[in-house]
Amino acid sequence: MNQLREEGYQIESVPRRGYRLIEAADVLTAAECRSRLAHCWFGNTVECFDETDSTNIRAKHLAERGAPEGTLVTAESQTNGKGRRGRHWVSPPGEGLWFSLILRPKIGPYDASMLTLVAALAVAAGIEDVCGFPVQIKWPNDIVVSGKKVVGILTELSAEAEEIHYVIVGIGINVNISEFPDEISKTATSLYLESGRRWKRCDLIVAIMRRMEEYYGTYLKTSDLSVLREEYTKRLVNLGREVRVLGPSDEHVGMCEGIDNRGELLVRRNGELETIMSGEVSVQGVYGYV
Ligand code: BTN
Repeated sequence: MNQLREEGYQIESVPRRGYRLIEAADVLTAAECRSRLAHCWFGNTVECFDETDSTNIRAKHLAERGAPEGTLVTAESQTNGKGRRGRHWVSPPGEGLWFSLILRPKIGPYDASMLTLVAALAVAAGIEDVCGFPVQIKWPNDIVVSGKKVVGILTELSAEAEEIHYVIVGIGINVNISEFPDEISKTATSLYLESGRRWKRCDLIVAIMRRMEEYYGTYLKTSDLSVLREEYTKRLVNLGREVRVLGPSDEHVGMCEGIDNRGELLVRRNGELETIMSGEVSVQGVYGYV
């Protein structure tokens, strides 16, 4: 019983009758993920680490050794969680979802940047399926609740000139985190802080994998975002707002009018409509994060 309590199970002793399980622990196991994703292609192979350096690094090693599309790698905690632009991603044990998915799309490397928007859409929809409150996207792939970031996505690619070997989509979700350091508390939040309740991580990962399989399939039919564009635009927090476009050598402000079929951001500046490619620049709100 003590062992189970240590693992997070809530167990009550009932006099003369024994013990009663009050609440199952929020443990992510490969067996539970696989059984709940039995009808899904994504999650066909699942590896759950207790602690690892980075699930993206683990997924890359598995992909190099031939792991199939849909392989899911999770970790309770990461010692070297990777964020975009070389930043560190803080990944404490038990309170978040830190996972990576292997994709092997038959598309050209030039089209791969759209996958990150497909992933953002799937994560936003999956979270909304479970939690029921509105979830938005800050272009290209930050997931935002009430104007603060709740999910980060890091997509990494292995490719030759004409051919993709594999894509790793790494997703970090602040699920039950109750506090953030001062320096990020104005821009970061968690599902717990936004709703006042704790969420089961397995419910979230299962909903996200189902949505990912659905949207990825839709994307592959056309190799662009023509079908998903309307849904993405509905979630786009930048839409109709002034955005600050931060390029490698300059910075300017314009009005966001949505995305095009390739997922590029449409920004009107001095009457001209310009298209902004993800990867080249970052975009911020004029008065803050969004
Ligand atoms: C960002 O900077 O917004 C992207 C953060 C991505 C973090 C996730 S956590 C799981 C996966 N493994 C990593 O090392 N990074 C991604």
